[in-house]
Amino acid sequence: MLVRIPGMVDPHTHLRDLDWSHKATFASETAAAVAGGYWAVFDMPNTPPTTISRAALDTKLAAISREAVCDWGVYAGASQADNTTEYATMASDVCGLKIFNNSTTGDLLLDDQSIRDRHYAAWPDSKIIAVHAEEDTVLDILALVRQYRKRTHFLHICTAREVGYLQAAKEEGLPVTVGVCPHHLYLTEDDERTLGAFGLMKPGLKTAADRDALWQAITSGVVDVVESDHAPHTREEKQSARPPYGVPGLETTLPLLLLAVSEGRLTLERVVELVATNPRRIWRLTCPPETYTLVDTNADYVIERDRLLTQCGWSPFEGMRVKGKVRETWIRGCKVYDGERVLVEPGFGRNLFGQSA
Ligand code: DOR
Ligand code: ZN
Repeated sequence: MLVRIPGMVDPHTHLRDLDWSHKATFASETAAAVAGGYWAVFDMPNTPPTTISRAALDTKLAAISREAVCDWGVYAGASQADNTTEYATMASDVCGLKIFNNSTTGDLLLDDQSIRDRHYAAWPDSKIIAVHAEEDTVLDILALVRQYRKRTHFLHICTAREVGYLQAAKEEGLPVTVGVCPHHLYLTEDDERTLGAFGLMKPGLKTAADRDALWQAITSGVVDVVESDHAPHTREEKQSARPPYGVPGLETTLPLLLLAVSEGRLTLERVVELVATNPRRIWRLTCPPETYTLVDTNADYVIERDRLLTQCGWSPFEGMRVKGKVRETWIRGCKVYDGERVLVEPGFGRNLFGQSA
């Protein structure tokens, strides 16, 4: 069956490029995005030079404008060395502020609550704050949301305890939304034995009970978004003595969710909410005319590295049989992907949040 999904958005990707173009580029990863069915992807600020100043933002905007084949947004990053004076000039051109509250790839960690407080106070109300917060750090961030009432999206929620904190926060009426990642829905810490460093990401893989709590939270409505946390690293880096955290996901998110539909674990309507309607609502975007994905929900296939467009050329889901093949991706009336090839030139993509948007 050919299903039409309007305007898919992945609000959580690390597209690399700039000083990390050996891992991936805006051109390669936005190609992976349209192959995955996406209209738009939002890029995280932890790629060097980190997006913590207007000057660094301008460097990123210039490069991604030249290269992207899908529409896009970029995040400003919060820096422990106070960069809040930059926020007034950055906010107009970004999709939001990203705060890393637990350690991960890159050096944008805020581990001091009084510093986090300063960033919450300084960030303008108009744009959302997206947070990396694990376990009890979720409570630290909820205290700031309660104080400042600023819209906050909790990225890659992955434990039963975190789900409980956020369910309570929603019941309290706090302006919070919740994202979960396919790797936490489909893999557990047991898979680390076979995947090795290819199963290493932050937050890491959890227990089967945590995984089950995430599926339950999707059904109950606590989860708003399924986001990939697409984070390509080269195979050589992953096989090194100190492998970096992160896995690619742009091309596997939709087929993994449609596999769950085919198994009766999820409805198609709920998938459309999780990958399209809800991210558009949370980031206040209107789907442009003729912007949609055609996906064959009956087609099943095995995930193989040679078929992926991501520059890193691997997936933690290699060998898995999934359901749902993207046949066409359309953006603003233009067919950008035909099921095999990208059909538009680099630079086709637009900033959905820029002053020129
Ligand atoms: O696994 C991860 N990789 N988690 C993050 O928070 C960052 C990301 C990256 O940039 O590689
Ligand atoms: Zn991330």
